[in-house]
Amino acid sequence: METPTSRSLWHIEQSHFDPQNQRHWETVFTIGNGVFCARGVFEEGYRGEERAAFMHGLFDDVPIHFTELVNLPDALELELFLAGERFSLEQGTLLEFHRRLDLRTGLLERRIRWRSPQGRTTRLHFQRFISLADPHLMLIRFSIHPLDYQGQVEIRAGLNGETDNLQFKHWEWQDQATSPAQARLTCITRKTHLTVALGTYLHIESQADVEREGWDVRNHPVLVARTQVSPEQPVSGEKIVYLYSNRETANPAQIVQARLTQTNAPLWDKAWLAHAIAWQREWEACDVIIEGDEEAQQAVRFSIFHLLIAAPRQDERVSIGAKTLSGYGYRGHVFWDTEIFMLPLFTYTRPEIARNLLSYRWHTLEGARRKARRNGYKGAQYPWESAATGDEVTPTWVPHFADPTQLIRIWTGDIEIHISADIAYAIRQYWQATGDDTFMRERGAEIILDTARFWASRAEWNPDLERFEYTDVIGPDEYHDHVDNNAYTNYLARWHLNTALEILEWLKSHFPETYADLAQRLELTPEELAYWQKVIAHLYCPLDAQTGLIEQFEGYFQRKDVLMADLEPRNVSVQVLFGIEGANQTQAIKQPDVLMLLYLLPDQFSTEVVKANYDYYTPRTDHTFGSSLGPSIQAIMACRVGRPQEAYEHFMRAARADLENVRGNAEDGIHGASAGGVWQAVVFGFAGLQVSDSGWSLKPTLPSHWKRVAFKFMWRGQPIYVEATPQNPSQTHEVSP
Ligand code: BGC
Repeated sequence: METPTSRSLWHIEQSHFDPQNQRHWETVFTIGNGVFCARGVFEEGYRGEERAAFMHGLFDDVPIHFTELVNLPDALELELFLAGERFSLEQGTLLEFHRRLDLRTGLLERRIRWRSPQGRTTRLHFQRFISLADPHLMLIRFSIHPLDYQGQVEIRAGLNGETDNLQFKHWEWQDQATSPAQARLTCITRKTHLTVALGTYLHIESQADVEREGWDVRNHPVLVARTQVSPEQPVSGEKIVYLYSNRETANPAQIVQARLTQTNAPLWDKAWLAHAIAWQREWEACDVIIEGDEEAQQAVRFSIFHLLIAAPRQDERVSIGAKTLSGYGYRGHVFWDTEIFMLPLFTYTRPEIARNLLSYRWHTLEGARRKARRNGYKGAQYPWESAATGDEVTPTWVPHFADPTQLIRIWTGDIEIHISADIAYAIRQYWQATGDDTFMRERGAEIILDTARFWASRAEWNPDLERFEYTDVIGPDEYHDHVDNNAYTNYLARWHLNTALEILEWLKSHFPETYADLAQRLELTPEELAYWQKVIAHLYCPLDAQTGLIEQFEGYFQRKDVLMADLEPRNVSVQVLFGIEGANQTQAIKQPDVLMLLYLLPDQFSTEVVKANYDYYTPRTDHTFGSSLGPSIQAIMACRVGRPQEAYEHFMRAARADLENVRGNAEDGIHGASAGGVWQAVVFGFAGLQVSDSGWSLKPTLPSHWKRVAFKFMWRGQPIYVEATPQNPSQTHEVSP
């Protein structure tokens, strides 16, 4: 992977063809519009590529029972034959190659000078964008400029329904229509019967005659155009693609057909304008400026870009999966990554999107209720991994990382229960930042209250110690499973129950009808509410008054002590080094757990407690090979204890997660939580934004070489522009729009 010496602050660039790392680049160069995203594969296709595009909400099942986002039929396909020779970078000589993603607009382009095996040289230029203004439109523009020959070019633009998900085929052909300039294809998923319809129109700009043909190959219609080119007469064209699913409209094929009927001319210039304006608005809301550090500046924009292209703007029944819409990793499933790591960016800059993401949890409440019922609890228990319905979709068994013939039991879907509190936390945070009472009244309250019921019914009374407990759980640190009284879980559960009571009081005084309705529907009897109070009062939430330490779970301090420094050098995670059980027996942790708690509930802990726990847990955390969720939080906590340089190291680990593939798995998709964490680390860490119900303040702790951090956030409907500089670290000013 090349590392640029000087960076463009708005572009990601690649200056050579890199087939070994092509899947990594495909992830990096993913573009999209919050409805669908396409990985940055080359139009003409190569062996070993991970050719995939995903649309929100299009899940289908795989036997034996798991569900995944379906790789769409391929609409990027564009094959060129230059004077009879197939254009392919694997043949001939590549004289020039340059690929560039413009983060401002999501324009992906490629410039090439290529000499064919028979010695003909051509300059080629490809551009593509997925429209942010027209959510069902993708455009590819290309130009073919022969430098030393003349002859015929043949352009083949297909729609290919023969795609699969890592060898599993979800699509069945349903229907198609092909004419010389237009093609349409409709496919349906095998199990969930979701339909997707694609249409394409091929426009060719040539001074010579254009001969056209439509190959009506079943499930793979192709538009073919032939014309003459020469150095004086280059050719250009557009492949216009429309894409609809039956999640949005009853008859997607009909709409695609109607749009095709209206398309008989190039569209790029007109569509580009609307698209670029839409992007400009996004960046006006979300951009973060870092002066004095080009790498950090580029990385923060790259992170925001990838969250923006995955963010549903028109759809409140979908959410962003852990790997966004950029790869197969985690099969498109939604985790706490969304609410705790990605959502704050949206809550504070694009609250409408945050509202959609939270509404997804409201629409999937029934699944969460089913999970609680199945486990014998009341209320709603959110799944650790969620897809279309809110039912638990975490795989129970997966192949062992070292020996794929063995299976590992995955317990997170059974016992990583903190997710319900994480969702409540995100709702409360959204409400605090936006003051959106309507959302809280109509949706948020129901979620918070029904999940509070779960917490109360899940709490176990320990008669010997006269306290409530949560035993047999997994906290954020997944190196340890089946633990009792994970501090993060217990504190968050207590916070959740308290918040539920606060919301009930608020409803009672402001919206008595909603209060009465919810109390009745959720069976919130006075006895039940009294029981919540009892759980709150007696829930075990550890804190050693003498040392200030919070034990991550009961017995953690008795486990074998392991400091990361003593394991150097290593290039694998602690779990790979010691084995799953081995790691479980140590104090090594995969990601911040107690520190995560201190981050989320700052009001509950003193500076001394934060310092003591920071010092204890930091050297025991697998920052390099543990979870990608860790470094950004670690950076924020380092800022809170006044160590900006240390914070910077952690921050850059998060910032490089995908751009430099620091974990070696970026090909599976963007680490969405890390991307959200990068934004949080700048805003809540270095700039030190602190919020409470009564307002916000800034307490910057900038790394020594940063000259300025500036960003905008929304507070109760008002834009606030802030900047922090090292000259006056405690001074900030609000700039009017
Ligand atoms: C992390 C979890 C995270 C999941 C999905 C795991 O490796 O430990 O915290 O939710 O990945 O990103």
